Amino acid sequence: MARQVVSGIRPRGGRSKALALALTCALAPGLALPAAAAAGEHHPQSTQLADRLAHQVTVAGAWRHLEALQHAADTHHDLRAAGTPGYQASARYVTGRLRQAGYRVRLQPFSFPDSAPVAETARLLTPEPRTLHPLLARYSASLPASGWTGSLAVPPQGGAAAYGCRPGDYAHGDFRGRAVLLRYGLCDVAAKLRQAAAAGASVVLLNVDQQPAGMNIRAGVRPPSAAVLPVATLPRDESEQLAADTARGPVRLALDLRGRAFTNHTFNVLADTPTGRPEHTVVVGAHLDSATEGPGVNDNGSSVAMTLETALRLAPYAKEIHNRVRFAFWGAEEEGLYGSTYYVSQLTAAERRQTALDLNFETIASPNYLRLVYHGSGAVPPGTGSVEKVLLDRFADRRLPTAPLEFDGRSDFVPFIAAGIPAGGGSSGYNQVKTPEWQKLFGGRAGAIADPCYHQRCDALGHLNRTILGQLGDALAWATGRFAVDTADVERGRLT
Ligand code: PHE
Ligand code: ZN
Repeated sequence: MARQVVSGIRPRGGRSKALALALTCALAPGLALPAAAAAGEHHPQSTQLADRLAHQVTVAGAWRHLEALQHAADTHHDLRAAGTPGYQASARYVTGRLRQAGYRVRLQPFSFPDSAPVAETARLLTPEPRTLHPLLARYSASLPASGWTGSLAVPPQGGAAAYGCRPGDYAHGDFRGRAVLLRYGLCDVAAKLRQAAAAGASVVLLNVDQQPAGMNIRAGVRPPSAAVLPVATLPRDESEQLAADTARGPVRLALDLRGRAFTNHTFNVLADTPTGRPEHTVVVGAHLDSATEGPGVNDNGSSVAMTLETALRLAPYAKEIHNRVRFAFWGAEEEGLYGSTYYVSQLTAAERRQTALDLNFETIASPNYLRLVYHGSGAVPPGTGSVEKVLLDRFADRRLPTAPLEFDGRSDFVPFIAAGIPAGGGSSGYNQVKTPEWQKLFGGRAGAIADPCYHQRCDALGHLNRTILGQLGDALAWATGRFAVDTADVERGRLT
């Protein structure tokens, strides 16, 4: 019992926890302390399990899982991408640990459209020979196998035209049969391809526009059928040099950009608590696959590790659970959220209604971290605000500032929200650049990317930040315990 008394307090925590510990120690040890006293408005049972779980889910516990995921990558060409042996190894580990803890684990297989680069090289011929470093976008169309040589055209720089989203952006040049250099962003890649194709361009090069300037990130075309032209990203420094060259005179390029499309196969890993009401199922998910460019230990091994650790620590408390918790490890998130989308598509209407909410954490150990909680300012399913509030209250209790992260379409909450299921979660940031406002809140380096290893080979164990991993992991565990006991606030106002 004494252990439970000190449950919400971890010495490893921040100042608020140290303070809480001091207050608790002022009481006679072993006295039953009403959990609600510290937790505020919730009735005791609703936060007791949450407090205990948050106490037991630690960075040390999660680290063992991270080492296993790193090992899965180390032994499989640095990759854990969907449909690769590194993914299988990751899933074997997660599945084994869950089964050991008494979970019944289900693998949910599905196929998804995939593509792989066959050639992705580029050379500048004029004004001077130079090697460029393109990454072929996922699902890109291909240039002829014989290669392509031609000239580069660039829309006016400095304004919206540089993004190539509108027909007018192509009004002042001749793009026919040429490569066109566009800036990433403002509209999706599919829209750029449509406009560039309409202007007669043969191939699109995208300035990936990242900080640092030499970074490149593989883009994707969604849906795959929108890939009407070959398209590849270039680092910002190479792109800016090309734009400058073009302003001075003709620029000629030799490109070899080819991909191969195929159907790939993978699976989600799903584990349910044996107890709890199925008609109030709480989904706690994280994507288990890495990007095709690296081991993905932060993206999203960090959330997998904390989700798995939460599942393992929750198992002994089965009797205290009111709502079924379904831990989900999604496949093929990186190629386009295919695992979570398939999962939601397979739910019956009744099962959709009986899904109380989806908790989703994405990349939670970034070196130049943010402390972001998903927030929907537009139309989101009723209850979404209540999920957010539970997380915000937890951070407020711990005196940890947060900032909102708009549901950005970039993780597995998307199909849940689309199906009317409330969702929430958090992230320590991926390729966002830290603003001065964020820097004031979270420290770190303004003007620098949250995770310089986002979708890179270096996304490995050694670059993770343990502080934010612990803080976001705490919120993950706490919210899981809270919703395992009580989802009334989230489900209120839900159409049934
Ligand atoms: N999370 C990945 C990203 O942001 C994967 C993703 C692909 C998300 C396609 C949405 C759409 O790049
Ligand atoms: Zn991710």
